[in-house]
Amino acid sequence: MKPPDIDRAVALLRQGELVAFPTETVYGLGADALNPDAVAKIFRAKGRPADHPLIVHLPPKPTLELWANPVPQAALRLAEAFWPGPLTLILPRNRRVPDIVTGGQESVGLRVPDHPVALELLLRFAGGVAAPSANRFGRISPTTAAHVRTELGDAVPLVLDGGPCPVGIESTILDLSRSTPAILRPGAVAAADIADVIGVEPESGADAGAPRVSGSLPGHYAPRTPLRLVAPTDMAAEVASRIGQGLEIGVLAREAQRVRNRQVLWQAAVPDRDTYAHDLYAHLRALDEAQLQLILVEAPPEGPEWLAVNDRLRRAASGSGEEDT
Ligand code: TXA
Ligand code: MG
Repeated sequence: MKPPDIDRAVALLRQGELVAFPTETVYGLGADALNPDAVAKIFRAKGRPADHPLIVHLPPKPTLELWANPVPQAALRLAEAFWPGPLTLILPRNRRVPDIVTGGQESVGLRVPDHPVALELLLRFAGGVAAPSANRFGRISPTTAAHVRTELGDAVPLVLDGGPCPVGIESTILDLSRSTPAILRPGAVAAADIADVIGVEPESGADAGAPRVSGSLPGHYAPRTPLRLVAPTDMAAEVASRIGQGLEIGVLAREAQRVRNRQVLWQAAVPDRDTYAHDLYAHLRALDEAQLQLILVEAPPEGPEWLAVNDRLRRAASGSGEEDT
């Protein structure tokens, strides 16, 4: 792995070009957040509808007033507690943030990512970098530089390689722009962690009547191969029946469940939650690229610890098996 070329990345951002970069969650596809022409290139590269807002990535200890107005007290406390880290705050926007970044909404998403390459880039650029996950719209988020290349090819002039992303699934999104705080997308920062800092338990997005959030569309994070979630106790029978139908299948399940058969490609899931999240998108991508007819995923446990992982798996199942439109 070559050392990431931060000088070139900063120069490209200043010229209004795109740069893909690693964060602790997934790889982002970045542009200068205050340059609408540069940000427009993100939407073209991803094939993303223009009304989907982008998260602005900021260097450590940002002046939130430059991006949000007003800045709620709760935002200052959460920023202090969790940044750099996998928490995105949706705040009322400062008017200087371009419409193309906010998707025309009156709010803006902000976060300080916890990854040495991202932090160096942001410190040297000394501004905000608008960045969605660096995948084609609706598809599996990239957790390595190679994934970004597969997704976007030549549409991005530079991919900074920071190795595999440590967290592996996207940030928690907390909306503080409404009267009561609401989690629009679960992630590594849990509702209980947030409640510890602000004194109230946030609602969850489904109840909260969330605004347009592409991460909240049911068919997001989806492989092209049909994907089904299977209860652990049903897995052996399900695999046997699919083999009997003559299908070539992929399975993401614990090693203890493994079925050895030439029609089956097995990805061994590590039951530890953090490792499971870290590996999840790489596993799904590997299974999706193997030209199989079906992917079976052993359903993880329920409960708050697994909320974010289960959210991504349900979306992957509901959007799977569709070609790009
Ligand atoms: O971990 C992450 O958040 C990664 C890394 C690259 O930072 N980024 C990411 O971006 O997942 P993206 O665009 O793939 O997902 C961000 C979600 C989108 O669903 C978007 O609609 C929502 O955040 N979002 C951004 N700004 C918003 C706003 N003002 N109001 C509501 N939702 C917003
Ligand atoms: Mg995304």
